[in-house]
Amino acid sequence: MSDKAALTIDGKVYEFAIFTGTEGEKAIDMTNLRAQTGCVAYDPSYANVGSCKSAITYIDGEKGILRYRGIPIEQFDTEKPNFVEVAWLLIFGKLPNKKELAAFSKKLTENAAIHEAMKYHFEGFPITAPPMAILSAMINALSCFYPQFFTIHEEDVFEDAAARLISKIRTIAAYSYRSSRGRPFIAPHPKLRYCANFLHMMFSEPYELYQVDPAVEDALNLLLILHADHEQNCSTSTVRMVGSSRANLFASCAAGVCALWGPLHGGANTAVIEMLQSIHTGNISPEDCIKMAKDKNSSFRLMGFGHRVYKSYDPRARVIKKQCDKVLATLGVNDPLLDIALKLEELALKDSFFQERGLYPNVDFYSGIILRAMGIPVEMFTVMFAIGRLPGWIAQWREQHLDASSRIMRPRQIYIGNKQRDYIPLEKRG
Ligand code: ACO
Repeated sequence: MSDKAALTIDGKVYEFAIFTGTEGEKAIDMTNLRAQTGCVAYDPSYANVGSCKSAITYIDGEKGILRYRGIPIEQFDTEKPNFVEVAWLLIFGKLPNKKELAAFSKKLTENAAIHEAMKYHFEGFPITAPPMAILSAMINALSCFYPQFFTIHEEDVFEDAAARLISKIRTIAAYSYRSSRGRPFIAPHPKLRYCANFLHMMFSEPYELYQVDPAVEDALNLLLILHADHEQNCSTSTVRMVGSSRANLFASCAAGVCALWGPLHGGANTAVIEMLQSIHTGNISPEDCIKMAKDKNSSFRLMGFGHRVYKSYDPRARVIKKQCDKVLATLGVNDPLLDIALKLEELALKDSFFQERGLYPNVDFYSGIILRAMGIPVEMFTVMFAIGRLPGWIAQWREQHLDASSRIMRPRQIYIGNKQRDYIPLEKRG
C-alpha cells in the first residue's frame, strides 16, 4: 500500500500522508485537510475518525480482540491479577513490580476516606437521586477539596491524584447507596483489599461486619478489570474532550460518568436486567422480544447486544458469561434471568437480522446477572461500571496531557441553517 492518499476536489489533487499503527491499522493524516483544501471531513458519530494516537488499549472488533497495554483480556481471567495492579498497568504502561504495587496500594488505603465536609453533600440529595448523578457530582466536588491537583507536572503528584480518585470513587459509590437506603456510612477498612473494602462499605452494619465471600470478591475483581478500559468509547472520548481544555482530572472524570450513564453505553447493564425482568414477569416472551428488536417500527432494541466496534463476539462477554456460571454455582443461586438471557442469545445468534448486522452480546449482557447474584442493587449497576472504567479514563487523561502535540478538541460543523437575515423588532413580528 502507498504511504500517500490522494483526494481530488474540483480537478485538483491533494495528497495526505498515511501512517500505520503497531497492529497494522492504517490512518490517513487529515490534520491539514481544511488548511489544504478548504473542506472539512463530515462524520457525525466519528465512526471513521481516529481522534488520537494511543498506546493504552488495542481492539480488533472484527476478530474480537481486546488487549490492555498489549496483554490479551483473557489473561486477566486466567492469571487473576488484582484490579489495582491492572489499573496501574493501564495508567503507567507496565505491570507494577512489588514495590510499586505496595506503594500504590498504600496510597489507596490512606486515601479511602472522603473529607468529612463531603459527607454533608449526601444529605442534600433526595433519597431517590440516581446514584450516577450523585457519583458525577461528588467526583466533581473532589476538585473543591484537592486544588493542588489542578495542574500536574510531576509523575508522583499524578500518582497521588490517581490514587485519591481510584480509592475515593469506591467510598462515594458505597455511600450513595447507603444514603439511598437511609443507612449510616461505614468507614473504609484499612486491612481489606479494593473489592472487599467496597463490599464492606456497601453491606456491613454498625452492629455486624459483612463477611466477604472470596468467590464474590474474585468475581467483582474480574468484572472491574473487564471494564477497565476500552479505548475511545463515548465516556472516554468525553474525558479526553473535557481534558483537552486542560480541565482538571476530577472534572474530566465527572464528565465521563455522565457520558457513561446513557442506556446506549454503560447504562445498558441496567437496561438489560430490566428487559430480562419484564420478560420473566410474563409481559413478553424471548421470541417476541427478538421480533420487536427486528421491527423497524419499534424503538425497542435488544439491550446488551451490538457494539460500534465489535462485529463479532465481545471478548469481555465471553469471559463474563463463563464467570457468571461459576458465581451462580458457587453461591448456589438459580437465576431464571440467566436462562432467559441464554435463550435470547441462542435465538439472536441464529437469526439473519443479527448475523447480517454483526450483532453479538456485549459486556453488559451478562454482567447484571453476576451483580444481582452479589446482592448489588440494579440502580448501582452503572456505578459499578464507572468504578471499573475509572483507571482507563485516568490513563487516557494522562496520555493526553503528556502529549505535547495535543490541542483543545474542537470539531467543525456543516451549517445548514438560515442564510444571513435581518432582526425584526418584536412589534413588527406577525
Ligand atoms: N437490537 C436490535 N437492533 C440493533 C441493535 C440492538 N441491540 N443494535 C444495533 N441494531 C441494528 C440497528 O437497528 C441498525 O439496523 P439498520 O442497519 O437496519 O438500521 C444496525 O443494527 C446498526 O446499528 P447502529 O445503531 O447504527 O449501530 P451503532 O454502532 O451506532 O450502535 C450500539 C452501537 C449503540 C451499541 C447499538 O448496538 C445498541 O444500541 N445496542 C444496545 C445498547 C447496548 O447494549 N449498549 C452497550 C454497548 S457496550 C458498552 O457501552 C459497554
